[in-house]
Amino acid sequence: MKINNKNYKTIWFNEKEKFVEIIDQTKLPHSLNIIPLKTLADVIIAIKTMQVRGAPLIGGTAAYGLVMAMKEDPTDANLYAASQGLLASRPTAVNLKSSVIIMNNKLKELPDKERFEASLLIAKNVCLEDEKCCKQIGLYGKQIISDFIKNNDRKEINILTHCNAGWLATIDWGTATSPIYHAIKDGIKVHVWVDETRPRNQGASLTSYELTNEKVSNTIISDNAGGLLMSEGKVDMCITGTDRVLSNGDVINKIGTYLKALAAFDNNIPFYVALPGTTIDYENNKVTDTMIEYRAAEELTYVSGIDNEGVLKKVRIFPKDCNVLNPAFDLTPGKFITGLITEKGVFQSTADGLSKYRSQ
Ligand code: MRU
Repeated sequence: MKINNKNYKTIWFNEKEKFVEIIDQTKLPHSLNIIPLKTLADVIIAIKTMQVRGAPLIGGTAAYGLVMAMKEDPTDANLYAASQGLLASRPTAVNLKSSVIIMNNKLKELPDKERFEASLLIAKNVCLEDEKCCKQIGLYGKQIISDFIKNNDRKEINILTHCNAGWLATIDWGTATSPIYHAIKDGIKVHVWVDETRPRNQGASLTSYELTNEKVSNTIISDNAGGLLMSEGKVDMCITGTDRVLSNGDVINKIGTYLKALAAFDNNIPFYVALPGTTIDYENNKVTDTMIEYRAAEELTYVSGIDNEGVLKKVRIFPKDCNVLNPAFDLTPGKFITGLITEKGVFQSTADGLSKYRSQ
């Protein structure tokens, strides 16, 4: 997708220099910085500090992390250590584990000397597969949007989204945004309500930024405004992403998703969750403590932004020494979700729905 009218993906391999390059998302929307990840350690730092974030992109980056690890030392011992390091870098997105498993399964079969070249091919394929999934999610999701327009005799649709499940959270297209981009390509008028998404503001800093760069009409709202807008009839549909769908259809996503789903349910507004198959956790049907990431208090107590002279500043907005709790994800029970939009079609957010997905 485009930034300043130029096409980008979120991650790629620099063939000449033999390292990975990413868009540093901690610098958006104020500056577009492309940075190299030259070592496994660089990759782990990028995931931990959220220079890359969003479940599918974390998965793609982890795959490239193993490429850098195989370049450094292709032995079994290093493959294991690197995989453990990556798995510990962020706990919620199950795509990370999916990628590490795919890479390990294939690399373990190969002699050490073939592992670097092979890992590069597999990592590129992991990213390509994600791109294909996101495109398909867009085609299935677009159909839901166009049906809404037809069935309700409408000229425009208002969609609310939370956090950033856009192309910046994937390799390209996004999950929640892909149906929107595809609907617009078909000439459907879409306006997006973008939840600011405190404390890190991925909605305001990333979703609004990418939608505006793609010339999609959007308005940033505070996280608490969505309920009011829904009750006033200003939201026609919600579409979010997810970091992990449990095997019973419950969805873990950015903190605040649950409250939006409750408000949508109470106002009879369809609430869809868009995801590639790599986000499904078939091994767990209950949320555990280790699946919900708790992040540093500083994310809440400080805000950063540019002043009128364009200088980036970070300021404390809370009282000194206050108590702070910063859970970064929450669980939305499947009963509040209208459907899961996947690359294979739209499924119910139930155990049955997921087994239908699996058997297709
Ligand atoms: O903490 P983040 O920014 O990685 O959280 C991202 C989200 O919660 C997204 O909604 C999620 O990864 C969806 S995947 C496109």
